[in-house]
Amino acid sequence: MQETRIEKFLRGLPKAELHLHIEGTLEPELAFELALKHGVRLPYASVDELRHAYQFANLQDFLDIYYTGADVLRDEEDFHALTEAYLRKCREQGVVHVEIFFDPQSHTARGVALATALGGIRRALLEAERRDGITFRIIVCFLRHLSADDAMRTLEEVLAFRDWVTAVGLDSSEAGHPPSKFAAVFDRARREGLLAVAHAGEEGPPAYIWEALDLLHVQRIDHGVRCEEDPPLVLRLARERMPLTVCPLSNVKLNVIDRIEAHNLKRLLDQGLCVTVNSDDPSYFGGYLLENYLAIQAALDLTDADLVGLARNSFEASFLTPADKARWLAAIDTYALSANA
Ligand code: ADE
Ligand code: ZN
Repeated sequence: MQETRIEKFLRGLPKAELHLHIEGTLEPELAFELALKHGVRLPYASVDELRHAYQFANLQDFLDIYYTGADVLRDEEDFHALTEAYLRKCREQGVVHVEIFFDPQSHTARGVALATALGGIRRALLEAERRDGITFRIIVCFLRHLSADDAMRTLEEVLAFRDWVTAVGLDSSEAGHPPSKFAAVFDRARREGLLAVAHAGEEGPPAYIWEALDLLHVQRIDHGVRCEEDPPLVLRLARERMPLTVCPLSNVKLNVIDRIEAHNLKRLLDQGLCVTVNSDDPSYFGGYLLENYLAIQAALDLTDADLVGLARNSFEASFLTPADKARWLAAIDTYALSANA
């Protein structure tokens, strides 16, 4: 099919992806291939049946399937194949920098060594950097439904790979697991020079966003869309240019919002927030980064200038060096001028 003007424009626009769970890129085809390889029985008869199971009432509903899927990832080659498939999408979609989440506890709890998982992921990232110039950072996330002690033990293990990791994050079931539960873990990570992000205000209340800022001292809020319920919080986020890594298709799939036309992304942008677009768990939510940009553009009638602003924000909010950020911002401006010439 002929590519539309907007699709071509968005594909060519340099973009960074800052909210991507690598386990959430596991496509049903690869899940079945790995299940066969390791003799794992998936509770679905076929690729189609698994894909059809991707209907979620809420975050927990999704997480149950997501953790089942992750069970097929067993050896270093599996993590490499998973990451390589995602990076192939990045190359096709004009994603030039990625900051990926990885959940160590999902794997170590099953007896998969941290070195196996992290090693496979990093090898694929290094190859893509060399081959395609796609730069990367790795963010290690703690599962918030588990205890703070478990997270602390995980952090100590991760510190053996300190040079491979840029930041820590917080994900999984949000309600009932406030950021405050992990304040000591994030303190320890900060003392090691690690940066921090946290999922907050996806299903949880604005109070969790305040906690992530004041107790975890994060550099970005993942999702954060519920900030709108708290006007003083919105003012603070705008004043501090605190980035939100928003995931439009995810928000619809997990019923965080009713329909994409009702998404608050444009209202947040108009209030001066540093909003970015991301795909979260693209295999489960029906689209990678380009599809997220396309969906939100069409639903909210975003202009080319809005889209350029979103791409600029993705680099501003990234953990790239100031020199690399400046280089990409200049590249975006040059692209926008030539595309509109
Ligand atoms: N883990 C993977 N995707 C997630 C999401 N959207 N929210 C919380 N935890 C997650
Ligand atoms: Zn997420």
